[in-house]
Amino acid sequence: MKTDSIVQTIPLSGRKRSLIEEARRDRESGSSSPGPSRCGDSFVSEEEKSGKVPLNILFSLRYEKNAGFFKAGKVFETFEAKLLHLESRPSRKSKKSGGDDLEFFMRCEVHCSDTDIFINSLKRVADDVRIVQEEKIPWFPKKISDLDKCNHLITKYDPDLDQDHPGFSDPEYRKRRGIISELAFNYKHGDPLLVVEYTPEEIATWREVYRTLNGLYPTHACRQFLEALGQLESECLYGEDKIPQLGDVSAFLKERTGFQLRPVAGLLSARDFLASLAFRVFQCTQYIRHPSAPMHSPEPDCCHELLGHIPMLADKEFAQFSQEIGLASLGASDEDIEKLSTLYWFTVEFGLCKQNGTVKAYGAGLLSSYGELLVRKKTGAHETFLIIIDVENSCAILNIFEETMIFRIL
Ligand SMILES: [Fe+2]
Repeated sequence: MKTDSIVQTIPLSGRKRSLIEEARRDRESGSSSPGPSRCGDSFVSEEEKSGKVPLNILFSLRYEKNAGFFKAGKVFETFEAKLLHLESRPSRKSKKSGGDDLEFFMRCEVHCSDTDIFINSLKRVADDVRIVQEEKIPWFPKKISDLDKCNHLITKYDPDLDQDHPGFSDPEYRKRRGIISELAFNYKHGDPLLVVEYTPEEIATWREVYRTLNGLYPTHACRQFLEALGQLESECLYGEDKIPQLGDVSAFLKERTGFQLRPVAGLLSARDFLASLAFRVFQCTQYIRHPSAPMHSPEPDCCHELLGHIPMLADKEFAQFSQEIGLASLGASDEDIEKLSTLYWFTVEFGLCKQNGTVKAYGAGLLSSYGELLVRKKTGAHETFLIIIDVENSCAILNIFEETMIFRIL
């Protein structure tokens, strides 16, 4: 999938730039696969120790197929090449010409000092001998329990490090946030979602946010959001007087769209966050913003997750769209992670749509922030963003885009 945008030219501030900028930083530093176990470095070092190198070789046999194959085998035997994999198929040239020539793909190990002479010997008995470079694919989770390894945090917005964080000079707040984050650090897939006993002060912060935003939702939020919020309230999961617990909300979502929650200790790297969406898992913080700034948090907090994200994840089409972005991210290059983050940012986080001729918000960043909701809605700021999408093999994303976002196909 290819996306391009002019968002790089738009000045973004605070957490608004975090997801995209972190993805961009990862691409520039080439650090997409932290840790040797995630990129196979340990495997390479073992090979270096033994003096053997892996080779992927393609060659064809045009004329004397059987004899040529045995001659090629003799070359492997002579150089003590350890055969790891063998495939044969009709050659591409043969397909075009209607012939029946075969092409062979072999993966083997040879001693590094023999590589050149091994290849040259093979060229004497086979045709079109080519070395195929192995593409290094960044590690990605293959099953839901692998999300336990998707825990790389971006810490620069947390109150211990960010001097602009409203809680930076409040040791009590930082201590409390640390205790709640510890629950997420210790969580493993399959564990029960632990209940956080929120303090009266934390509930007061939630109440202020909930009450203020609830007054804006009827005129500013999209239909799907309002429907889901109504269900959450009627099932007594949401209200002014209690901060919803992850276990209850996760069960609600799972029943509707198959999404489930897992606790996270803070802002995740773009790659890890997007990967969890592929498994319909939403990584959700449990701590709450500082009481001195109830309408702003430089990092995700439970107000942002529970009010901004959860209602939209209860919508089937939106859930599918979110998962599509996650699936596209698995094993993607750093460059594509940055593009997917940009797509995510201007839709899931700050998306606007038009319903019955009126601009409505569906982005979590808007729906969880009083200031954002008023300003963005008033200016329709996202209508000025140009996002060019060239979707390969991912028509679903484009279709959902067409239905949910204000955009023009150029
Ligand atoms: Fe978010």
